Amino acid sequence: MIQVTIIGSGNVARHLISAFSQSSFVEIKQVFARQTETLSHLIPSEKITNNFAQIQESDLYIISVTDQAIESVSAQIPFENKLVVHTSGTVSIDNLSSRNRKGVFYPLQTFSKDKKVNFKEIPVCLEAQNEEDYLVLESVAKSISDKPFNISSEQRKALHVAAVFSCNFVNHLYRIGSEICTENNIPFEILYPLIEETADKIKFLSPEEAQTGPAKRNDTTTINAHLNFLQDNTQKEIYKLLTKSIIDNGKKL
Ligand SMILES: NC(=O)c1ccc[n+]([C@@H]2O[C@H](COP(=O)([O-])OP(=O)(O)OC[C@H]3O[C@@H](n4cnc5c(N)ncnc54)[C@H](OP(=O)(O)O)[C@@H]3O)[C@@H](O)[C@H]2O)c1
Repeated sequence: MIQVTIIGSGNVARHLISAFSQSSFVEIKQVFARQTETLSHLIPSEKITNNFAQIQESDLYIISVTDQAIESVSAQIPFENKLVVHTSGTVSIDNLSSRNRKGVFYPLQTFSKDKKVNFKEIPVCLEAQNEEDYLVLESVAKSISDKPFNISSEQRKALHVAAVFSCNFVNHLYRIGSEICTENNIPFEILYPLIEETADKIKFLSPEEAQTGPAKRNDTTTINAHLNFLQDNTQKEIYKLLTKSIIDNGKKL
């Protein structure tokens, strides 16, 4: 059994607490939360502290706070030569305080507090400064996920950009689609099967093979009709830019 302390009480920290609570390999030693009451439904209150000086010894400290606070939080852990990791997709391993051994435990998923996830299916991107620490992180990751990956800080930077395109931007496009539906008295849920099939089929076809639509067909009549339909300038610009990117990509093949 390994003792893990989690620092943070946001989206990721809560999902980690839930996942580790079901693992027989990990004991959650303690959780640090600035507002202790926000976690009382997840973990006994005697295990929650809001005082860095009261953080107890543990085998592993997982810092899951806002990216900008990782460096200062890591400097407040009152121990030396312990294994301390963060959960960020963008922050370098070097941002952690050098008083402790550094690592990364980045779960590649979009987390919202109130939306359940199946942690077993979530890739966990791991990085450590030596083999022994890596093996500790791998065993902790394997206790909650079937998908641990060895990913360097450089690779993680690239992966995070890929994730922004594949998740955050796509979600924003859903929002535009939803607005267009609402403005025209169409329920957005009519698009759910299309959205699900689009996401599902890239497991079987490459994104190039899976692409359909007027830009892929270079159908300028439909493209111009859509541009005439759109009233919002930002939506028009997004439509033009994505259409150009799809057409240019087709020319490269
Ligand atoms: N959400 C995702 O989908 C996702 C996915 C993968 C990785 N990540 C990464 O996981 C980390 C946490 O993200 P999140 O979405 O869980 O963030 P979040 O929901 O915004 O929560 C941020 C947490 O950081 C705490 N915090 C902020 N500044 C602090 C400080 N100076 N000292 C101590 N605690 C501080 C906040 O405490 P208060 O509540 O008291 O303000 C809160 O508990 C980030 O590195 C993020 O990049 C996020």
